[in-house]
Amino acid sequence: AHIDKAGHKHFMAKEIAEQPTVIGEALSHYVHDAGIDLPQTLDFAALDRIVMVACGTAFYACLTAKYWFEQLAGLPVEVDIASEFRYREPPIGPNTLAVFVSQSGETADTLAALRYCAEKAQIAAVTNVETSSIARESDVNLPIHAGAEIGVASTKAFTCQLTVLVLMALKAAHARGRIDDATLAARLAELRNLPGRLNLALGQAPQIAAAARAVAEAEDVLFLGRGQMYPLAMEGALKLKEISYIHAEGYASGELKHGPIALIDQTVPVIVMAPHDHLFDKTVSNMQEVMARGGQVLLITDSEGAKTASDGTWRTLVMPDCPALFEPILYALPAQLLAYHAAIAKGTDVDQPRNLAKSVTVE
Ligand code: G6P
Repeated sequence: AHIDKAGHKHFMAKEIAEQPTVIGEALSHYVHDAGIDLPQTLDFAALDRIVMVACGTAFYACLTAKYWFEQLAGLPVEVDIASEFRYREPPIGPNTLAVFVSQSGETADTLAALRYCAEKAQIAAVTNVETSSIARESDVNLPIHAGAEIGVASTKAFTCQLTVLVLMALKAAHARGRIDDATLAARLAELRNLPGRLNLALGQAPQIAAAARAVAEAEDVLFLGRGQMYPLAMEGALKLKEISYIHAEGYASGELKHGPIALIDQTVPVIVMAPHDHLFDKTVSNMQEVMARGGQVLLITDSEGAKTASDGTWRTLVMPDCPALFEPILYALPAQLLAYHAAIAKGTDVDQPRNLAKSVTVE
């Protein structure tokens, strides 16, 4: 089918805007009544360990899912970049599920890592292309149903990957007796409300764009996050460097004092992704360390976070309130919009950034 920009200036803008719809569609494929439909062969109760392997944005989806599988299901998770994984010759024990996440399903490094695990572990693929090599060579195929993604910088595929991965983690938690039927049903009800919250976040685009125009002046940008928001800080930095060519790094908030704080002055915006969760106070004290050194903090938080911590920040962006578990999905949107509008301000080729390819099929 012919895919056009549907009235948007760029495919990336269209794909960002589509997220409430495609996430709703992904949910409708996997969530029925009070339960999650995944292939029967996926026996989470029998697992000792999950190994997750991917590249780029898909790697950050895996890092986020590690928090979910470990916290919800009590399953140890190892995450690796595909190009490192197989040369390390990692031992793959029995009762291991190996999960390969790839939008295209054709990334050479990820496919090679999958082949390394074949016969050693059960292989699950989380891809956007059901006919892809990674989907075909897996034991269990879990499509993300994002629809064709054209922009080189991944957006809707990332949030649909997160959606499928959080469903896997909830299913695993239930299968392993860590959450009961009622808790599962409550989480699924929250998930059904997620597309509405994503729409509200998209409604903040003008404020995010204004912040992005200011960020676009910088040469270096730091993204901070704690807990499940840490991988998203890295994804936010990746998005920004991919399409605006601004140097950006994502750090765990608590690691700031072990190095990156040396970079802080008034020219380095520090973007703090911090909903008002159980780790919020710790992140706020990291943020104050930045402000005490003249750093300009862009705080992305919710209404409660804004109420308690926006004093002294450079800017505060307020996201809709959201159940904590799903915040990495919601906060992906401001990260994408910041990168998008910074790139527009810089005049770069948003859909086809220099030196990058949508799918890298060579090693
Ligand atoms: C390329 C793309 C990235 C993507 C990565 C992994 O580098 O530019 O946007 O995240 O490949 O691609 P995959 O198709 O395996 O998710």
